[in-house]
Amino acid sequence: MAVERVQSAIARARAKRAGLETVFDADDIPMPDDDDVVIEPVAREDWNLLPKSGMTASILDRARIVTGGVSKNATAFDMLRTKVLQRMKAEGWKRIAITSADKNCGKSTVALNLGFSLARQSELRAILVEADLRRPSLAKVLRITPPAGLAQVLRREVPFPKALVRVRDNLAVLANRARSPDSAELLHSGMVPSVLAEIERAYQPDVTIFDLPPLMEADDTLAFLGNVDCALLVTTAEHTTTTQIEACVREISDRTALAGIVLNKYRGAGAITGY
Ligand SMILES: Nc1ncnc2c1ncn2[C@@H]1O[C@H](COP(=O)(O)OP(=O)(O)O)[C@@H](O)[C@H]1O
Ligand SMILES: [Mg+2]
Repeated sequence: MAVERVQSAIARARAKRAGLETVFDADDIPMPDDDDVVIEPVAREDWNLLPKSGMTASILDRARIVTGGVSKNATAFDMLRTKVLQRMKAEGWKRIAITSADKNCGKSTVALNLGFSLARQSELRAILVEADLRRPSLAKVLRITPPAGLAQVLRREVPFPKALVRVRDNLAVLANRARSPDSAELLHSGMVPSVLAEIERAYQPDVTIFDLPPLMEADDTLAFLGNVDCALLVTTAEHTTTTQIEACVREISDRTALAGIVLNKYRGAGAITGY
């Protein structure tokens, strides 16, 4: 039942979007003024110098990370990884956001599982950035104690190499140990594009995953979507309504590409549905 509900919401949203696309005029998009783009030189940082924190089986278990190794439980996320990677490679995308209508849908859990699944492909390098500064959870669930988080990096209090921790040889996390009351100002600030570009220039990740706040909570998530190439929408079988899904699909599609919709906390088969 839940799967049909999500699928019909997706179909309706897609039909509406198709309608919108026919009136879309590329000339309406304001082009950035060349003078606004400041590219500062950033040295290539040594990825191998980032501190590494060992992940025990019990940490992974408690964090509900099922993609640490090959297993039946990992299959759904591995399929999601493969689909997302194919699309990202085909489109030349590097940044993917994970969001949902509401809190507790499993954004962080999906972001972590996608990150660990990507990390099983040794030729890839991935960074997971926790941009949910109101309800940060990654440092806690991964049992890591980074000296600083995204908030301090965006305030330029700490250089970003000090905040990244590797949880796999090829997966680093920029997590937060505490909430930031000025989350909206930070995520809206002009620092975001510069800091993200600096991190990419320094470490050359193939994929950067952003664990975002809920979409319907505040407009900082909407603003942040302008910084990513695509987004995954996480829904739950029990709590996300069709109206919420349609609204989220609309908001995401207005700002970036919708890479897919994940149906989480579903007890039946087929926990993942595409877009
Ligand atoms: N598929 C799932 N089955 C059971 N519990 C889950 C599932 N996905 C997430 N959870 C749990 O639900 C809670 C909220 O998940 P979380 O990923 O922190 O959500 P969000 O980041 O959207 O607020 C956490 O305790 C998490 O362990
Ligand atoms: Mg979260």
